[in-house]
Amino acid sequence: MFSIIEYTDSHFDGVDTLWRDAFPDDSPWNAAHISIPEKLRYQPNLFLVVLESGRVVGSIMAGYDGHRGWISRTAVLQSHRHKGIGEALIQEVEKRLAALGCVKINLQVVASNSAGLGFYRKCGYEVEQRVSMSKLLSKA
Ligand SMILES: CC(C)(COP(=O)(O)OP(=O)(O)OC[C@H]1O[C@@H](n2cnc3c(N)ncnc32)[C@H](O)[C@@H]1OP(=O)(O)O)[C@@H](O)C(=O)NCCC(=O)NCCS
Repeated sequence: MFSIIEYTDSHFDGVDTLWRDAFPDDSPWNAAHISIPEKLRYQPNLFLVVLESGRVVGSIMAGYDGHRGWISRTAVLQSHRHKGIGEALIQEVEKRLAALGCVKINLQVVASNSAGLGFYRKCGYEVEQRVSMSKLLSKA
């Protein structure tokens, strides 16, 4: 049995462990000690964790910029996958974004992440003909 709640400081170590497990090749600027304090400055109620027996087993970050909703950092511990935890996280964050007035959610998946693509397709997301662009403003 798992529950989905908003992140609090007591979850830091659990999320750090989860992200190391789920994103082993992550960019340094995505590290928990950098990205969590930043997220807590903006819409912290869209940073959710999944607890099972008090342990963090999943997390997700989302945001609404007034035009689009964005989802990122969807993660479930390898030992807890394929039990519906990821899909439950998406559904909870969709509910929260819709309550803010969001009509469309965007997200990015690394093209080689076939598992991530399969997961998001199952959750109802479609691949659109867009080119993803980005610019790094500062390096961690
Ligand atoms: C993607 C991820 C969050 C899925 O979490 P999960 O809890 O295992 O997902 P669910 O159990 O809710 O799966 C829901 C559906 O997604 C699809 N799915 C899940 N994992 C999949 C995989 N590895 N390959 C293809 N489809 C998959 C399935 O259709 C599944 O439904 P089913 O179990 O009825 O077949 C998890 O694998 C993960 O943390 N991956 C590493 C991080 C990552 O790549 N995140 C996404 C990009 S940021």
